[in-house]
Amino acid sequence: MKKLVNVAVLVSGGGTNLQAIIDYAGEGKLESGKIVKVISSKAGVYALERAREAEIDTAVVERKGKKQEDFESGILRELEDCKAEVIVLAGFMCILSKNFTDRYKDRIINVHPALIPSFCGEGFYGLKVHEAALSYGVKVTGATVHYVNEIADGGKIIMQRAVKVKENDTPEKLQKRVMQEAEWKILPASLELVCKKVLKGETK
Ligand code: GAR
Repeated sequence: MKKLVNVAVLVSGGGTNLQAIIDYAGEGKLESGKIVKVISSKAGVYALERAREAEIDTAVVERKGKKQEDFESGILRELEDCKAEVIVLAGFMCILSKNFTDRYKDRIINVHPALIPSFCGEGFYGLKVHEAALSYGVKVTGATVHYVNEIADGGKIIMQRAVKVKENDTPEKLQKRVMQEAEWKILPASLELVCKKVLKGETK
């Protein structure tokens, strides 16, 4: 049987990007990896429901009320438990320290809902990104998948896809279109690319 890379997905919310990966795997397109666990930084989020529906193991490591160090050791324990080799941040709304990212160098990927280096870094997450893009008046935005290092949204870019801004866009409308046209396409494709590289023993 072909060796597959163990993938863990970290989430904090609705999990539509997680769903895109689950569907991609369901269609047989995730040829080099297998989702072994979904870890949430919040209890009760819909992403956990999506994971259970797909019969994927789940864990919750609450961010709230914990020191960064304790939160990260909780996540690390879960990752070691499932022998994760590649980690996907799919709507994961927590910052990770250098201590954490160094342990999985070139093995953590994140999806960001803008064309990095625009509208990114600390404070730019979720709807806030689209609000900022609209108030700036950009005519083109999009999504980026990148490697994760200690700088928020600062790691090397893997894939990007552009999306046109429309005259009557609201942050919510734009968010939905960026997800549909960009995020849900480039995140699963980037994951396959990274898993394939890991199998081949390539670093980047
Ligand atoms: C997505 O748009 C994702 O790109 C964004 O949050 C949303 C999560 O949706 N992530 C960030 O802003 C991280 N900086 P989802 O839970 O439905 O995948």
